[in-house]
Amino acid sequence: MTKQDMAGKRVLVNLGPTREPWDAVRYLSNASSGTMGGAVAVAAWLRGAEVTVVTGPVSLWLPAAISRQCVTTAQEMFTACTDLWPGMDMACLTAAVADYRPKPYGERKFKKASAEAGLNIELLPNPDILKALGACKLAGQTLVGFAAESHDLETHARAKLKAKNLDLIVANSIVGEGGAFDSPVNAVTVIGSDGRLETWPSLPKPEVAWRIWDIVSNP
Ligand code: C5P
Repeated sequence: MTKQDMAGKRVLVNLGPTREPWDAVRYLSNASSGTMGGAVAVAAWLRGAEVTVVTGPVSLWLPAAISRQCVTTAQEMFTACTDLWPGMDMACLTAAVADYRPKPYGERKFKKASAEAGLNIELLPNPDILKALGACKLAGQTLVGFAAESHDLETHARAKLKAKNLDLIVANSIVGEGGAFDSPVNAVTVIGSDGRLETWPSLPKPEVAWRIWDIVSNP
C-alpha cells in the first residue's frame, strides 16, 4: 500500500503548453508534452490527495479520479488556476505557459502578400500564473514552481523563488544532458525557501515527482 501522507490535501497541478492563436489557423506554442505535470498529479493522487489538473493541449492519460479542466490559452489557464487556488492546500505549476501571445490578426486566415516579404507579428505579454498565485498565497498553502534555465541555473532559480513567493522551485537546465522537454527523464536542482538545496541526477519524471512530494509532505 502506498503511503497516504497527502490524504485530505487538495492539490492543483497545471501542465502542458499553452496555445496562443494569431489568425484563424495559426498559433504560437511550445513542445511541452505535460509528462512532468502528469507525473506530479499522479504521484499526489497515489499518496491520497484530491487532485485537480488544469491542462493545456496535450495527449496525456490521467486516472479518472483526477479532475481535469482543459484550457487552451495562457489567459484561460490563468483564470482557471486563480479561481481554484483559494480552495487548495498546495499547487505545483509545471505548465510551459507562453510568456507572450500574438496580437490577434482577426477571424480570417492571413494571406501572404508575396513569397519574399517578411512578416512582423506583434506580441503582447501574458499574465504570470505562478506569480499571481504566490501574490495571494495564504498561510498553510504550499506553492511549488518549475524553472527551465539555459545558464546560471541556481542564481535565476533563487531569484524566481523569491519573486514569485514560492516554497520550492524545481530547476532544470535546458542545455546538456537531462533536457526536460518531451523527455521521460529530468535532471533537476531543488531549492527551498527554507534554504534547502539538492541536485538530483537524471531521473525518470515519476521519480522526480515522488521526491518533490516527499519534500513538501515531510519537510
Ligand atoms: O519565469 P519562468 O517562466 O521561468 O518561470 C517558470 C515557472 O513559472 C513555471 O512553474 C511556470 O509554470 C510558471 N509560469 C507561469 N506563467 C507564466 C510563465 C511561467 O505560471 N506566464
